[in-house]
Amino acid sequence: MKILLVGGAGYIGSHVALQFLEREDQVGIFDNLSSGLKSNVDKRARFSEGDIRNFDQIAAVLEEGWDAVIHLAAFKAAGESMITPEKYSHNNISGSLNLIAACSKAKVKNFILSSSAAVYGEPEYLPVDEYHPTRPANYYGYTKLAIEENLEWYSQLRDLSYVSLRYFNAAGYDNEGRVLGLEANPANLIPVVMEVAMGIRPNLLVFGSDWDTPDKTAIRDYVHVTDLANAHVLAVDHLLEGKGNLIVNLGSENGISVQQIVDTAARSAWRMCQGADAIIVNMNTSFGIDIAEDPHQHRPLRMALRLVLGEPALVQQPLHEGVVFGDLPHLAVAQQVES
Ligand SMILES: NC(=O)c1ccc[n+]([C@@H]2O[C@H](COP(=O)([O-])OP(=O)(O)OC[C@H]3O[C@@H](n4cnc5c(N)ncnc54)[C@H](O)[C@@H]3O)[C@@H](O)[C@H]2O)c1
Repeated sequence: MKILLVGGAGYIGSHVALQFLEREDQVGIFDNLSSGLKSNVDKRARFSEGDIRNFDQIAAVLEEGWDAVIHLAAFKAAGESMITPEKYSHNNISGSLNLIAACSKAKVKNFILSSSAAVYGEPEYLPVDEYHPTRPANYYGYTKLAIEENLEWYSQLRDLSYVSLRYFNAAGYDNEGRVLGLEANPANLIPVVMEVAMGIRPNLLVFGSDWDTPDKTAIRDYVHVTDLANAHVLAVDHLLEGKGNLIVNLGSENGISVQQIVDTAARSAWRMCQGADAIIVNMNTSFGIDIAEDPHQHRPLRMALRLVLGEPALVQQPLHEGVVFGDLPHLAVAQQVES
């Protein structure tokens, strides 16, 4: 099978690539490296540097013939999208329309979109399922909805089937340590917490401590990135088996609060550092993690970063227990969107 990952040098894309490479599919990666890293491109994959906003660049790669295209390329900072919507409409919407048109020209039949739970906006009930109204609360979420709507139209007007995967919050890293490049300037909570633990950031800004939750901090659904990646393989197989369009949530249905994440990160970092002398990790209950200033002493924490993110206590095990991706075909029956 030939699979093209657009935006495949990024955090999630590099994990998705691993899953396809493991089953010996041919993987191509098209990425402009705006946030992705060349070091995250597996040696077995073929890399093309380019931008989806440039029709000729993406069309040239698509001409090579692909069984499926997975579209991960986007800007994804919800807060920033409310300040500079132009940046998001240009990259996420115009870029995606370019890509879809180029797929149509190259007669690509199967398309997977990295969508987002941000299409739903404020939850009206929990857990948020695929029938929940889509009222994005930020412009980023709107861009994903706009792409989905265009995919639906193209699937009616052209020979294109799609799966839209609405991710909740991706977390963790490959357990075998095969993805090494960390995101530059992450905006997601767990990497931000760990940057604070490493001393890269001075503090953690917590948005609200008066939520209607047991510890008063916001609760989010986190899903391990390897589970997300596996879902892409299932999604491609779903399309190749001719099962039609599908919109599906990818989450764990297990909410974790900001406070729980801070606590667990601090505990795990502390455990990792117990062997090292004079490392002081203070969990500040007002949501800060203070770390000794000596840069040399940060090194074990740097290691802790990777280990904590893959550490069962924080993410991996609860998510693997709760995650339902093995049941994607079952969900597909329930949530199939017939074109
Ligand atoms: N990380 C999450 O928790 C999360 C949650 C929901 C949805 N998503 C979606 O998943 C996708 C991947 O997210 P990620 O966390 O891996 O982010 P990421 O920033 O690590 O990956 C995005 C990749 O797309 C590339 N890219 C961006 N614009 C491009 C363009 N115009 N042309 C070519 N390449 C371009 C970047 O260089 C990067 O490699 C995104 O579409 C994001 O909106 C992510």
